[in-house]
Amino acid sequence: MALDPNGFRKVMGSLATGVTVVTTRDRQGEPRGLTATAVCSVSLTPPLLLVCIDRQADCYEAFQDAEAFAVNLLRDDQETLSHHFARKDARKFEGIAYRPGVTGAPILPGVLAHVECRVQARHPGGDHTIFVGEAVDSGVAPLEDGRSPLLHFRGAYARLGDRLPADPS
Ligand SMILES: Cc1cc2nc3c(=O)[nH]c(=O)nc-3n(C[C@H](O)[C@H](O)[C@H](O)COP(=O)(O)O)c2cc1C
Repeated sequence: MALDPNGFRKVMGSLATGVTVVTTRDRQGEPRGLTATAVCSVSLTPPLLLVCIDRQADCYEAFQDAEAFAVNLLRDDQETLSHHFARKDARKFEGIAYRPGVTGAPILPGVLAHVECRVQARHPGGDHTIFVGEAVDSGVAPLEDGRSPLLHFRGAYARLGDRLPADPS
């Protein structure tokens, strides 16, 4: 017998993750996005990652139609942004600064890193769809003023307590 959703959420919540805002453009060219932790690196050659998006999300159709998306990796001072993009609101980008990346997908300022992808495949995954993207552009910001990634663990936001290397090797 399968675990119930609460039991599954509880156990998987023990897998600490980074927090991202995944963005795209809808058919009208409007920016869309949502907070997501179901993001994972898949392959190095070619460089592939996956993002799982709830089929009930209002922005789901935009991702289904899109040829590209961006993953914005949040810093520990961007918890408000995570709350904002986890809200149900079609006009989430109103008042939010962003710039279009090379694919046109919105890149948020001040993020730890971002990666833009061309959609390579869409796979069914229960009540989510697994979007596999090929990374075509990226940026990694230096860690200033002791900033660290925003994490999510057991249903709450968390931060790294350790000293961090300033730049990835
Ligand atoms: C910490 C956190 C992680 C989340 N991870 C995901 C995720 O990986 N995939 C997903 O589809 N929704 C995820 N969500 C939920 C969406 O952000 C939320 O349902 C959002 O309101 C969807 O936006 P929309 O319905 O306005 O398009 C997460 C929410 C939070 C707070």
